[in-house]
Amino acid sequence: MKINVPKTSQLLDNEFIFGVATAAFQIEGGAESRLPCIWDEFCEQPGRIKDGSNGLVACDHMNRWQDDIELIASLNVDAYRFSVAWGRVINADGSVNQAGMDFYGGLLDALNAKGIKAFVTLYHWDLPCYLQQQGGWLNRSIVDKFRDYADKVSKAFGDRVYSYATLNEPFCSAYLGYEAGIHAPGVQDRQAGRQVAHHLLLAHGAAMQVLQQNCPTALNGIVVNVSPCYAASDTEADKKAAQMADCYHNQWYIQPLLDGRYPDLLQQLPDAERPVIEEGDMALIAQPLDYLGINYYTRTVFAATPQGWFRDVKPTVPPLTEMGWEIYPQGLTEILLSLHQRYRLPPVYITENGAAMPDECLHGQVDDPRRVAYFEQHLLAVHAAIEQGVQIGGYFAWSLMDNFEWAEGYLKRFGIVYVDYQTQQRTLKTSGLALQHLFAQKKAHA
Ligand code: NOJ
Repeated sequence: MKINVPKTSQLLDNEFIFGVATAAFQIEGGAESRLPCIWDEFCEQPGRIKDGSNGLVACDHMNRWQDDIELIASLNVDAYRFSVAWGRVINADGSVNQAGMDFYGGLLDALNAKGIKAFVTLYHWDLPCYLQQQGGWLNRSIVDKFRDYADKVSKAFGDRVYSYATLNEPFCSAYLGYEAGIHAPGVQDRQAGRQVAHHLLLAHGAAMQVLQQNCPTALNGIVVNVSPCYAASDTEADKKAAQMADCYHNQWYIQPLLDGRYPDLLQQLPDAERPVIEEGDMALIAQPLDYLGINYYTRTVFAATPQGWFRDVKPTVPPLTEMGWEIYPQGLTEILLSLHQRYRLPPVYITENGAAMPDECLHGQVDDPRRVAYFEQHLLAVHAAIEQGVQIGGYFAWSLMDNFEWAEGYLKRFGIVYVDYQTQQRTLKTSGLALQHLFAQKKAHA
């Protein structure tokens, strides 16, 4: 099975970057050689993770990273996006854990030796527990801690990193972690959610300054998730609900970064639900970005509530992925165009896109034609956005391999490589073969 994009598409240009992505907690394992994080604690709480699993072993990448890099290289990618586990490289007293730094150093050296660009995310949700005990993202002093962490990592990694992302999907850390309560640390409190979002954005701004100083030639930015918001009906109330949801879920994180202010919806929140914002905060958040990373999976539909707020309407009409998410590729083109019209965007990278499917490994093969179709449709959606003037520098498939899907545990498989968790054997799925072929085509084309 092939993924076809137009022969003249900019996706096949030499400069366009194709890659695969992972995150530390989801694949590494090796929990004994790092500090525990909020997800370790969350996994211990009964009922939090669907299959009762945890990240102690995950894909055992800590022991298999060399083979995994061979696997990545075999895919013909230009880049590999991964995250650093904070608690693997920094000790509780703030000093550097050299063994942890060396682990990532080895990974970077191996990637560089193969000509694969390293896209490093500093924070993909695994806050060390000792910091959580000090209030975590609710305590404003986390901003200094994060700045220091970014400083130590970027000094140690030097010029071996092509691109840094300060944060991955601050919406998830803030909203899912502190408002919906379905991610670690599992709090349900609207004010806390907004405060955490503000501290995350401040930490991003502080780290950006450090990165631009330590690594001026790297591509430095942040990764946000966007899900375009649609109204459940044509009524004015539902249309307004969708707009509010867009402000609350998407623009809340993007507008401060690019415009230095929160959406006007902030003024509509009761005092008790507003974050504390100090003078100078918005300027710190709005540091110039070398790029904006966008993670896209699906759209979301909203209806008005009697209280004048919004609620999401779960999709029921196929095609849906195993996550119950609607497959809606045109939403990717639409959100890219609307961001392009609304802001002065830096170059955009699609830092994640992918789908969970009910994969089975039969006779050493994993046939996932629906994932192949998903990738093709979304790549065409990226192509369409480029054609209409959005500057897009790259595309990363989520994920390199099946892994720990947060509250869903190991039940949901997003990989283009299948992982047998009993044996840790990796098997390239049909989608992996299709991307491998597309990526090779790009290299030959260039
Ligand atoms: C976004 C997150 O960055 C990643 O960790 C997660 O596995 C995927 N979405 C799929 O839900």
